[in-house]
Amino acid sequence: MTKKKILSCIQPTGKLHLGRYFGAIQNWVDLQSEYDTFYGIVNYHAMTMPYQIKNLIPATWELAFDLIACGLKAENIFIQSLIPEHVELFWIFNTMTGYGELKKMTQFKDKSKQVSEKGKDVLISSGLYTYPVLQAADILIYKADYVPVGKDQEQHLELTRNIAQRFNHTVGKDFFRLPEPLFTEIPKVMSTADPSRKMSASLGEKHHIDLFATPDQITKQIKSAVTDTGAPAKKMSPGVANLFRLLRASGGKDQANSLHEDYEKGMLKYGHLKEQVARALLEMTEPIRARKNEIVANKKSVKNTIKQSSEEIRIVAQETIREVKDLVGLLNVKF
Ligand code: TRP
Repeated sequence: MTKKKILSCIQPTGKLHLGRYFGAIQNWVDLQSEYDTFYGIVNYHAMTMPYQIKNLIPATWELAFDLIACGLKAENIFIQSLIPEHVELFWIFNTMTGYGELKKMTQFKDKSKQVSEKGKDVLISSGLYTYPVLQAADILIYKADYVPVGKDQEQHLELTRNIAQRFNHTVGKDFFRLPEPLFTEIPKVMSTADPSRKMSASLGEKHHIDLFATPDQITKQIKSAVTDTGAPAKKMSPGVANLFRLLRASGGKDQANSLHEDYEKGMLKYGHLKEQVARALLEMTEPIRARKNEIVANKKSVKNTIKQSSEEIRIVAQETIREVKDLVGLLNVKF
């Protein structure tokens, strides 16, 4: 039996922090054994928010190295700009997507607000507006069955399905499969500096823990994590709950359970909890850090492997595009 296809993508913006690791990458690594997996580093997407040109290529490679260090196989990784067919399909899908459909996207509303807060003359681009259509192209070009994503991407997946359906209807053929989102049970890791907010790179340095930070940095950041603010409440404070979550996610389930008993008895010392969290995190990140060092020492050959895997994955995309152009009445280069 042929394996089902899984596709997901990540933008080369910001560092790989624990929120992204626990929220996505860890799961992507596991999925490789059961599925035919495609993982994209989507650099065209990264252009939709204000960015530094000189940083984009280094950030793209850095993320590729990080992902491999986390356990993704190089042959499952592609870099979006090496497969320009994504953009070709994007254009075709643009002509089949309603203006009103995109207006409803909450991520566009959030992000355009972020852009406008940066200053009057920063552009809210049409690229940001039509970005979900490019996402639909990323997914459909490989005819993916499942797309592991966070809940924040639910609307984009719904749009992808609508576009696939509309395309099929337009050409009178069941050409695209309707992909299903794969919402996995993932711990929602919060900022250690403000546990009421999700851990995210855009909140600033203090708010996220870099997966590749040094052991010292990780320990320091956990030590300074916010626990209880003000009087002890009956309910566990968000900061303490977050530390428990981090402990569980990083493989310290048993410790978490026993510390939780202490907590119930009112005997938990936060300093002790933090020590355990730091220790579990260091243990978990240690092999990842080691692999990263190896990769960096062999940069050139790793880059070549990813270029090659992108070329191989591109063949799948080219086949799809060729058929799509036939179906919608566009001349192909080779006919
Ligand atoms: N929009 C996704 C995000 O911001 C990234 C993304 C782009 C994506 N293309 C995709 C995710 C295709 C899944 C499938 O996280």
